Amino acid sequence: MIFTVAIDGPAAAGKGTIARAVAKRFGFGHLDTGLLYRAVGAKGGDPVAAARGLGETDLARDDLRTLAAGQAASRVAVIPEVREALVAFQRSFARREGGAVLDGRDIGTVICPEAEVKLYVTASPEVRAHRRWLEVGGDEGEVLAEVKERDRRDAERAVAPLKPAVDAVVLDTSAMSVEAAVAAALAEVEACLGAG
Ligand code: DC
Repeated sequence: MIFTVAIDGPAAAGKGTIARAVAKRFGFGHLDTGLLYRAVGAKGGDPVAAARGLGETDLARDDLRTLAAGQAASRVAVIPEVREALVAFQRSFARREGGAVLDGRDIGTVICPEAEVKLYVTASPEVRAHRRWLEVGGDEGEVLAEVKERDRRDAERAVAPLKPAVDAVVLDTSAMSVEAAVAAALAEVEACLGAG
């Protein structure tokens, strides 16, 4: 069975949690595409060469989840040649046998517009910054500024900017518990699988 669930949205909206829950529930493969950009940013040197030569060890680094790695990822993600170098891998993952969940910024709009389910998971910047702050600590005001800066860069870039696909189901998790957000996403996938 070929079945793709595309989950897009801004930083710290809950995409990763939802993607992992969907993958587990339905036995689909999961690709966190943000990790690809984080690995390119963390590698240093020429980002285009880093993207073209990205390998397993680059993705296994343990420093890819930091705020700094997120900023570096967002900066290399504006480079069209970096994005191009990562397209084929993401597309083949999306259409792999057995089903796939991909979370990122442009999965439903660019990587897999034919995805059977498209979710756009969002929340207010304040709520997202608070969640990120609970994970990373530090100064909450700084985390909020970082979230807003990344939102702006991801949404304003010329190539594959962050925006909901026209046919995406928008899930605003600002006032939702994790359990409720996961349940809503599972219900969308269930409905689509049932209808197929
Ligand atoms: O989801 P994340 O926070 O790990 O993503 C890090 C950065 O990578 C994000 O700010 C923008 C970029 N990104 C992207 O441009 N396209 C994707 N599909 C995923 C991430």
